[in-house]
Amino acid sequence: MSKNFDVVVIGGGPGGYVAAIRAAQLGFSVACIDEWKNEAGGPAPGGTCTNVGCIPSKALLQSSEHYEHAGHAFAEHGIEVKGLSLNLGQMLARKNTVVKQNNDGILYLLKKNKISFFHGRGAFAKASAEGYEIKVTGKAEESLIAKHVIVATGSNARALPGAAFDEQLILSNTGALALTEVPKKLGVIGAGVIGLEMGSVWRRLGSDVTILEGLPTFLGAVDEQVAKEAFKQMTKQGLKIELGVKIGDIKPGKKDVSVAYVDSKGAAQTVVFDKLIISIGRTPNTTGLNAEGVGLKLDERGFIAVDDNCKTNLPNVWAVGDVVRGPMLAHKAEEEGVAVAERIAGQHGHVNFNTVPWVIYTSPEIAWVGRTEQQLKADGVEYKAGSFPFLANGRARALGDTTGFVKFLADAKTDEILGVHIIGPMASELISEAVVAMEFRASAEDIARICHAHPSLSEATKEAALAVDKRALNF
Ligand code: FAD
Ligand code: NAI
Repeated sequence: MSKNFDVVVIGGGPGGYVAAIRAAQLGFSVACIDEWKNEAGGPAPGGTCTNVGCIPSKALLQSSEHYEHAGHAFAEHGIEVKGLSLNLGQMLARKNTVVKQNNDGILYLLKKNKISFFHGRGAFAKASAEGYEIKVTGKAEESLIAKHVIVATGSNARALPGAAFDEQLILSNTGALALTEVPKKLGVIGAGVIGLEMGSVWRRLGSDVTILEGLPTFLGAVDEQVAKEAFKQMTKQGLKIELGVKIGDIKPGKKDVSVAYVDSKGAAQTVVFDKLIISIGRTPNTTGLNAEGVGLKLDERGFIAVDDNCKTNLPNVWAVGDVVRGPMLAHKAEEEGVAVAERIAGQHGHVNFNTVPWVIYTSPEIAWVGRTEQQLKADGVEYKAGSFPFLANGRARALGDTTGFVKFLADAKTDEILGVHIIGPMASELISEAVVAMEFRASAEDIARICHAHPSLSEATKEAALAVDKRALNF
């Protein structure tokens, strides 16, 4: 028996479930299909983000930061901790509870919005005059008919050839978030966002962490000044980061894994690690969708091919999130999901890629929006720069975290903000002001003239905006 819907969403991650909610708000009958299972085999919507991505990584980053502070930072505040010890089991259990709260929250939201949820794998069966037939394979088989389909099937960790993930010795993000013992020696391949976040978690908990990066530059997409400061701080904390390496054979043993590589000077090296995380990017998830069966086009990199409006080559089939081009970020997926639901309703949903913020939740945090100084130079744009260090910010001193700075880049003639780059405490929260400013096409002077609460970290943002015009007050 088939069920008819205006909109069927395949995938219940941040792209899919948010698209489903917005479509339901707009009055459509909506189904959302997601195959993620919790330990008991039940539904666990929320995708990579909720289950093995954003949420559990931030839970462990927070817990491990507390642990590090208790061991190293509390004494300065006059708080003496004796007999500090790590209960990793409890830390992981808390992380799992946070994940479950989010899974349950999404199930509640789907129900509240009268969205029919199907737990299983969705695949295109055929296109007909009525719409698309979508087969759901799970505990029970279902056949749905959709006028519109939104594909939001996300991404998976990319493996290195010859080193498949076993999640015991060779770990993707899934295994990296679930280690039941702190590895003595942890290897990480790829000094990108996951490598740095996961490397930080396990270093704080006691691992000796070595990160092997293929490129000769550290965090190439980040503003150079910020990347330089990040490298300095992270290596000071004890992360060993080797750039410009060429990875060779990876050989798992019984209890450890050896990695052969050629270092940046051309010397052959072999290191044995207790565990190895491979975080070299992610690949779009299109397996099992039967894209080829209905003629849904993929691009040369395996992403579902879409135009600027997330339209695929098939009428009334849309795709959003990690499975399409653009940054692999939860908030980008959500914005696309909302925009697509609105376009289906005949509205003008819009995603501004120029104001999608990036955050790396290391310590110090790194956050930015807009163009970097090197991009502006490459684009031949005349710009002015202004920075302000947290060292000169009263709130940062009171917090006991004065690393980093805020940096503004503004158009030399119009003063329009072109990029804001932050490394330091709560950069993830501070960046929102810059996003709002850029969305409204504000000038640096606009931020400089706005009253910011004292004492607050946001005063560093105002001061950096003032510094664009060389008139910072406190530095
Ligand atoms: P996903 O979240 O991958 O969801 C896709 C869902 O579709 C999954 O549940 C999958 O099981 C399901 N699915 C796939 N195929 C089918 C099918 N045929 N039928 C039914 N269901 C199917 N981003 C941030 O913005 N901030 C962060 O802090 C952050 N941290 C991260 C940390 C880690 C360790 C990782 C790995 C990623 C992180 N990301 C972060 C990236 C973020 O998780 C992704 O960008 C986001 O989850 C993409 O959302 P999505 O909806 O496109 O796909
Ligand atoms: P990434 O693209 O951030 O980093 C991958 C790194 O691996 C790069 O530095 C790359 O040069 C390196 N690399 C690639 N191939 C290599 C090889 N063969 N040998 C050595 N180094 C190699 O990808 P990552 O860290 O896997 O994360 C995937 C995506 O997930 C991110 O791009 C991001 O979109 C998302 N994410 C976002 C987070 C956030 O917003 N805070 C947190 C974690 C992930």
